[in-house]
Amino acid sequence: MAVLSQIMRRYSVRAYQARSVEPEKLKNVLEAARWAPSARNMQDWRFVVAQDAETRQRLMAAANGQPFVGQAPVVIACCTIQPDYVMRCGQPSGPIDVAIAMDHMTLQAVEEGLGTCWIGSFYEDQVKAVLNIPDPVRVIELLTLGYPAGTPPASKKREPMDGMVSYETWRF
Ligand SMILES: Cc1cc2nc3c(=O)[nH]c(=O)nc-3n(C[C@H](O)[C@H](O)[C@H](O)COP(=O)(O)O)c2cc1C
Repeated sequence: MAVLSQIMRRYSVRAYQARSVEPEKLKNVLEAARWAPSARNMQDWRFVVAQDAETRQRLMAAANGQPFVGQAPVVIACCTIQPDYVMRCGQPSGPIDVAIAMDHMTLQAVEEGLGTCWIGSFYEDQVKAVLNIPDPVRVIELLTLGYPAGTPPASKKREPMDGMVSYETWRF
């Protein structure tokens, strides 16, 4: 139940206080990623943590100018070093592994009183240039992290359970 309530408290934070994130809290967030599952336990994720103000401004530009990317005291580039591995099911494991680790981070952030926002709207070549990320590494997503400014949304929109779950057979 505690996990579900933290999940429900998480929301995309798009305004941040100037206050920096304590190293211990940042470490806990990254530790949550480290314990995520991954295909064949490859742990193919790599995280580049940007805290330098000028670097964050350049990441904001690479993220289509989304202002809160420059405002957040921490921006994490979430990468895979195994972009080509395809599982038997036909899906690439790299982006999936990274996404799971990121979700762990977003939930640990809630636990630490911090907020996050996934950023998929970015130019990968620009992010790689800013952070010196080599080929063949792929940047899957960026994650902003910091103390939220403002208040959480009163409610979050989600489709009802019946529209997304069926039991024993496909019934949609
Ligand atoms: C893969 C992914 C990419 C996203 N990219 C962006 C983004 O570039 N900018 C942004 O403001 N929000 C982005 N979001 C946040 C979503 O808009 C948000 O999660 C969704 O509207 C649900 O709201 P909630 O996170 O508050 O529950 C992204 C979320 C995901 C999962």
